[in-house]
Amino acid sequence: MGSEDLVIDPWSSAQSTDYSRIIDQFGLSSMDSIEMPSPSRLHRRGIVFAHRDLEMILDAQKTGDPFGVLTGLMPSGQMHMGHSMVIDQVKWFQQNGGDVTIAVADLESQATRGVSISKGRETALAEYIANYAALGLDPEKTNVYFQSSRPIVQRMGFQLGKRTNLNELESIYGFNGETNLAHVQAPLVQVGDILHPQTDEYGGLRPIVVPVGVDQDPHLRLTRGLAAKTNWFNVNDAKIGLLIGLSVQEENAAILGQLPNGRMDKDRLKEIFDGIVNCLKNLGFSDIMSSPKQGTVHVPGATQSDKRNIRMALLNYERKLGGMGLLAPSSTYHHFAVGLTGDKMSSSQPKTTLFLKDDLATVEKKIKRAFSGGQTTIEEHRRLGGNPDIDVAYQYMMYFFEDDDSYLEEINADYRAGKLLAGEMKQLCIERATSWLGNLHEMRDQTAHLVKDFLASDAR
Ligand code: TRP
Repeated sequence: MGSEDLVIDPWSSAQSTDYSRIIDQFGLSSMDSIEMPSPSRLHRRGIVFAHRDLEMILDAQKTGDPFGVLTGLMPSGQMHMGHSMVIDQVKWFQQNGGDVTIAVADLESQATRGVSISKGRETALAEYIANYAALGLDPEKTNVYFQSSRPIVQRMGFQLGKRTNLNELESIYGFNGETNLAHVQAPLVQVGDILHPQTDEYGGLRPIVVPVGVDQDPHLRLTRGLAAKTNWFNVNDAKIGLLIGLSVQEENAAILGQLPNGRMDKDRLKEIFDGIVNCLKNLGFSDIMSSPKQGTVHVPGATQSDKRNIRMALLNYERKLGGMGLLAPSSTYHHFAVGLTGDKMSSSQPKTTLFLKDDLATVEKKIKRAFSGGQTTIEEHRRLGGNPDIDVAYQYMMYFFEDDDSYLEEINADYRAGKLLAGEMKQLCIERATSWLGNLHEMRDQTAHLVKDFLASDAR
């Protein structure tokens, strides 16, 4: 690893906000090429700025095929506005047909933040789930579970842990010899969180999208890599069309026909390949070149857009043969909102953020004191104009409180032109923030009785 390389540490509050570098270095896809039927506010404003394989999810949306959404929460501290961005996205996916699973990372917060399991439960319900209900997630279509009480999550973490090693974790997370082993285990539990919704027991094979802040991308890189390593069949680009390859591994060698002496049982191998050909025929392909000897099947007529269907068919086939049939998760990433002070937002520093439970007087006080992009004197501001890009009041309206895009554009222009003063911008933000949060507080009372309905049966 070169010393110039970024390492994202998901447990640190210091995060890089050099988003284009993050996209480049970690191979994220930018949202520029993505077209959505009814983009949410966060999509329209470029706040959701990158993704991995989001096309899988949008395709499923379009065709009405099932897809899932999974995200997780750390049950420590209070829920703040920054956390609400993930829920905005979850809600959007839910409204577009996704089933939602939410992991309460009680094992992780016990391991990395010293929160006991029972305290974690209390915090998750009172701080997070109560707000999710108030923010309008649908309890009928949301399943909240606890890492500590869903054995399959830990089992999968253990099982997939076999496919990685300390060197890989060192390069992904910057671990070293001093790293506490709880920190080594936590990512593997998160791998289980992310992958278990596609097991037959939890909804079956379907694309799963994980909306997160970019600090969580290391976990997605790890998960996607591990899922791919378990796959029995790979789908790759060929010069013309697509090429399917067989991956013989310890777990599947006997099933795929490898004999104790290392040779392949030709009849068995032919059966396996006939199965692949069958999958392809069912998808409507007729020009299929199967070469069991080379371990490949070539489909010259298949295009990029056929990849998803072919992958899904082969994962289903793998499952029938006894494999895990895991699909690499999709993900989306949002920009972090700036803290009230102009620095990073952090739940451990109340001055940097609005909590969803802050009373309205506190909200007003915090916004009045917020970092502004205005000039030091009114004359200068009129002459030079302000900078909305660093103005917290403007940013919070854009991220959280103002729905109307054209109104935002208008105040943006007025601010730059010096027509709108910093104090006036703050006043606008205060009006919207207090009305938004006042409404949320009311909704929290009205939806308090729904909290238990969000819990999966193993969480009650
Ligand atoms: N590690 C996440 C955090 O720090 C919480 C989490 C646990 C999570 N499991 C997850 C997030 C699965 C997304 C997906 O906030």
